[in-house]
Amino acid sequence: MRFSHRLPTSLEENRLSRAVAARRARGAPLYDLTETNPTRVGLALPPWPLQALSAPENLVYAPDPRGLDSARQAVVEHYRARNLSVGKERIFVTASTSETYSFLFKLLCDPGDNVLVPAPSYPLFEHLARLEGVELTHYPLRYHQGWFVDADELAELIGPRTRAIVVVHPNNPTGSFLKRNEAARLLAFCRERDLALISDEVFGEYEFGPAPERWPSFVESEDALAFCMAGLSKRGLPQLKLGWLVIGGPAGEAARASAALELIADTFLSVSSPVQHAAASLFAFSDQFVVAIRDRLEKNRRALKAIAGDKLRVLDCEGGWSTIVRAPPSHDEEAWALQLIDDGVLVHPGYFFDFAEDGYLVLSLLPQEAEFSQAAARLTARLGE
Ligand SMILES: Cc1ncc(COP(=O)(O)O)c(C=O)c1O
Repeated sequence: MRFSHRLPTSLEENRLSRAVAARRARGAPLYDLTETNPTRVGLALPPWPLQALSAPENLVYAPDPRGLDSARQAVVEHYRARNLSVGKERIFVTASTSETYSFLFKLLCDPGDNVLVPAPSYPLFEHLARLEGVELTHYPLRYHQGWFVDADELAELIGPRTRAIVVVHPNNPTGSFLKRNEAARLLAFCRERDLALISDEVFGEYEFGPAPERWPSFVESEDALAFCMAGLSKRGLPQLKLGWLVIGGPAGEAARASAALELIADTFLSVSSPVQHAAASLFAFSDQFVVAIRDRLEKNRRALKAIAGDKLRVLDCEGGWSTIVRAPPSHDEEAWALQLIDDGVLVHPGYFFDFAEDGYLVLSLLPQEAEFSQAAARLTARLGE
């Protein structure tokens, strides 16, 4: 049987996965600095509000393609607590950010249309787009004392079939936020060229220190159609499958987009009622996760700085859950990553995130502090110059 071209031609494991499997099969320990599952990193939290998931309303099936009113209200309150004002009529509840991407690609693109995505960035784009028959064009994030978007370079990449510009704010894995002037340029391009802006803000609550030039969010955008997405997964509850979309932009266009999205969402109705009824409690509970995660990120960042000293080049990082280390040029990044597996440390090589050039390793800042420090010491011993 031939499967569709929406799937990759090879589904085989890569060399790193094979090396990890072999090490684990031998029973040898491995510090996993690719771990980004917040439910597996030993965060100390109060008991779960499980009663919130057993509300009597759950016995009735009364779906709303936009999401239940109470769940959308919980999203409104979530933004209000961050001083952002969002109308309930502009919100859709989804099962995850990944689902939101698929809805937006269905909304905006015909097969063969294209969207601009940042590089380096989130590796799942490739599959999310391909499964919708959408092509990706990568626009580079450049690094010079911090990451930035070269707007002229991006403008050159907009073609006749480009339908949207995706930003990840802050980006995974660079942790970089768009600055106010960058966001204004992108919104202007979108307005002038009739493109949608898609802003993935799942890590929006994780920033290291204030920066006045940082763009806060696209949820209040008035200038151009801007679709902003986030979810509970980076608030510590990926297993709940609750995400959301906020449609920013001029009222008329936003209403047209909403009507079309309603049809798409109605076709699936994928968000469970118990999770939606519990949304307000889950937001309150996940506030504690956000605090615990921020604390973990901060401690691991400080530990890495102390252990790496001036032996290892750690890139400036504004937010998010990862940090990036420069690998010495004597080997390519995959060779370093394989060597590190032998040392008992698992990291992602940069190509996993589409870095334009070789020589980067990406470390999750989420693992338990003791494990992270042990791994950082081995990494420094191996790569340190
Ligand atoms: C930038 C980015 N967007 C979206 C997601 C997926 O989020 P969700 O679990 O809501 O699908 C991830 C997961 O790592 C991510 O890194």
